[in-house]
Amino acid sequence: MNAFKPVLTEHIHQKDCHTLPFYKSVGGYKALEKVLAMQPDAVIQEVKESNLRGRGGAGFSTGVKWGFIPKDSDQPKYLINNADESEPGTFKDRLLMNKTPHQMLEGMIIASYAINCNTAFIYIRGEFYKEYQVLKETLAEAYQANLLGQGILGSDYNLEVVIHRGAGAYICGEETGLIESLEGKRGWPRIKPPFPAIEGYLHCPTVVNNVETLACLPHIINHGADWFKSIGSEKGPGPRLFCVSGTVNNPGVFEEPMGISLKELIFDRAGGIPENKQLKAVFPGGSSSAILTAEEALDVKMDFEDLVEKKSMLGSAGVIVMDETVDMVQACLNIARFYAHESCGQCTPCREGTAWLVKMLTRIVNGQGKPDDIDMLYEITDNIGGRIDFSKGSFGKTICPFGEAVAWPVRSFVEKFEDEFRSYISQVEAVA
Ligand SMILES: Cc1cc2nc3c(=O)[nH]c(=O)nc-3n(C[C@H](O)[C@H](O)[C@H](O)COP(=O)(O)O)c2cc1C
Ligand code: SF4
Repeated sequence: MNAFKPVLTEHIHQKDCHTLPFYKSVGGYKALEKVLAMQPDAVIQEVKESNLRGRGGAGFSTGVKWGFIPKDSDQPKYLINNADESEPGTFKDRLLMNKTPHQMLEGMIIASYAINCNTAFIYIRGEFYKEYQVLKETLAEAYQANLLGQGILGSDYNLEVVIHRGAGAYICGEETGLIESLEGKRGWPRIKPPFPAIEGYLHCPTVVNNVETLACLPHIINHGADWFKSIGSEKGPGPRLFCVSGTVNNPGVFEEPMGISLKELIFDRAGGIPENKQLKAVFPGGSSSAILTAEEALDVKMDFEDLVEKKSMLGSAGVIVMDETVDMVQACLNIARFYAHESCGQCTPCREGTAWLVKMLTRIVNGQGKPDDIDMLYEITDNIGGRIDFSKGSFGKTICPFGEAVAWPVRSFVEKFEDEFRSYISQVEAVA
């Protein structure tokens, strides 16, 4: 039996759940009232203590990130809500924006207050037109109710929120690519450091947080850091929205405590694999995570630590399931094509390497593979993403982590299903 009670999605099946009257009727904006009576530092401290870690991909501590915003600087501070949600296999932020946008907005106001920001942005994926319309209504309701604007709820705190629509580039989900795009430029990631907390939007201190991360905040304020820490895994606690897609009977978003087993997610929540076919492999954290074999997948907990131990990552918690019928060479080509298309082209290893991967994998799939191709695939992925040593961290060779995001999954396909790659190539040898 599932004893866990959803936190972020508790009300999403109720009528008018996206409206302000509904949100207020279930305790919405009580956390904001509480926060406005607190010192900003105390809000940061509470979030630090909750051990909330970012839900956008990197899993960095939210409170620690906020703490990097300089307090003695008189530059404006900015908050950006990363609603770009472009990672393949990930569709949770979209659900939150559609069904419970005030929860996310309340989180944004809390975060803005904590870092002393008076202008915040929602950078929303261009394709999310419906969600954009919902958010426009959400902001109008909030301004009308004095939850945004001047002197929020009678306090001396002011906040304006601006929605900015992206134009469909995957790389604009990466925080510095996003900031460049928001500034009206091409979405080219910046070299870090300096990190956005020191030099972000318009070179001012900026926090970028994911939609789901922000949606957690009202609950942390209402129920306290200890309550949050009591849910799921110790080192990365809280509720988490897992997106399950691919070859499962019941794909969807499932809210569960951090640390639920992947087996339970696939076979219980997502209803298992159609026609009782065998599980073959799984992306546990979007297409940027290294794939797990069935054996690994059946023995892993969905939290930051366990997945790193399995040499993969929780990422955006986009679980993509592949059954026994999936051709791993074709699947690998499919994701390599995506990354080659989305590389912003600034770094040679990424721009050239992704194109090479597509060329080679296409050749292999078309029956023109060469015996050296396997070694070459390893070499190219090493050159893009650095040699992967999880005990020491990776040695990136590119400006942004997109390099690793393509190198790790492609390499994992070749490493874990090398026989399938070899079999394509040996068919060529047999004909020759
Ligand atoms: C290539 C790439 C794409 C990314 N896409 C997204 C995205 O669509 N949404 C998101 O929230 N974070 C994305 N991220 C992570 C962001 O750079 C950033 O770490 C995150 O928005 C921070 O928010 P958080 O601390 O709340 O997780 C991406 C990172 C990379 C390297
Ligand atoms: S790693 Fe790729 S996507 Fe990232 S900055 Fe370099 S070329 Fe652009």
